[in-house]
Amino acid sequence: MDEYYEANKRRWNELVAIHAKSEEYDLEGFLAGKTSLHQVELDALGIVSGKSLLHLQCHFGLDTISWSRLGAKATGVDFSEKAIEFARELAQRVGADTRFICSNIYDLPKVHQSEYDIVFTSFGVLCWLADIKSWGQIIAHYLKPGGTFFIADSHPFFWIFDIDHPSELKIKYSYWYSDEPLSYDADGTYVDTDIKLTNTRGYEWAHTVSDVLNALIQAGLLITEVKEFPNLPWKPVQFAERNQDGEWHIEGDLLPLCWSVKATKPLTS
Ligand SMILES: C[S@@+](CC[C@H](N)C(=O)[O-])C[C@H]1O[C@@H](n2cnc3c(N)ncnc32)[C@H](O)[C@@H]1O
Repeated sequence: MDEYYEANKRRWNELVAIHAKSEEYDLEGFLAGKTSLHQVELDALGIVSGKSLLHLQCHFGLDTISWSRLGAKATGVDFSEKAIEFARELAQRVGADTRFICSNIYDLPKVHQSEYDIVFTSFGVLCWLADIKSWGQIIAHYLKPGGTFFIADSHPFFWIFDIDHPSELKIKYSYWYSDEPLSYDADGTYVDTDIKLTNTRGYEWAHTVSDVLNALIQAGLLITEVKEFPNLPWKPVQFAERNQDGEWHIEGDLLPLCWSVKATKPLTS
């Protein structure tokens, strides 16, 4: 397993500088005070002021710092050293009191002891995790009784399609989880860039809707809301179109592109 995570980490370390320069991450806008959070996330968590918030897989921290700017006591976690280094630099630059921890999320309980009002994670997170059951337990471990968990991510069903196809949806991948990861060599990323990655090897795992919900249920959480959306904040395929809200969708809106889950840790378990 370590070999897979190490390869992914090398890729993510290299991606930090590329993403930071991209139009999609809009660092200039962020430094000028713009939030990097999407409406679906803001709506789901509402007023966060004064609440402690743990952000899993925070990349270089734009969303974590955005939660801090809204008054949350936010802590971001990511296994990429370059991401955490840059996140800390950004927090200092904008004067945000945001804490960052460099750790594989599975190792976090070995290096960090605390409890949070909110555990948050979003967009582009689950596919990097081999063990979805342990992921659920990590979330439950860090939530205070009565605390809230929220995830928004691309819809698991959407990942059966060949996203590089220029004009249509063709099934390419299995919907189902396999211990053996999907391995690939790709010198590109999801932002628009001419830079070619040198760390091309990546490993991903598919997690079905029921796998994710059951991981949370089996960890003792109570699921309070599940939503599905025909649009995503980022362009999922070349032929997607922008809607009035600036999000991306596919003509006809026949498929779920995004989903979100909200859960709570019961006061007594
Ligand atoms: C697509 S980003 C998600 C963050 C956010 N939505 C964004 O776009 O900035 C995925 C992040 O997950 C991190 N990551 C992947 N596997 C991880 C693991 N096992 N433990 C901690 N972080 C991990 C990567 O380093 C990367 O920063």
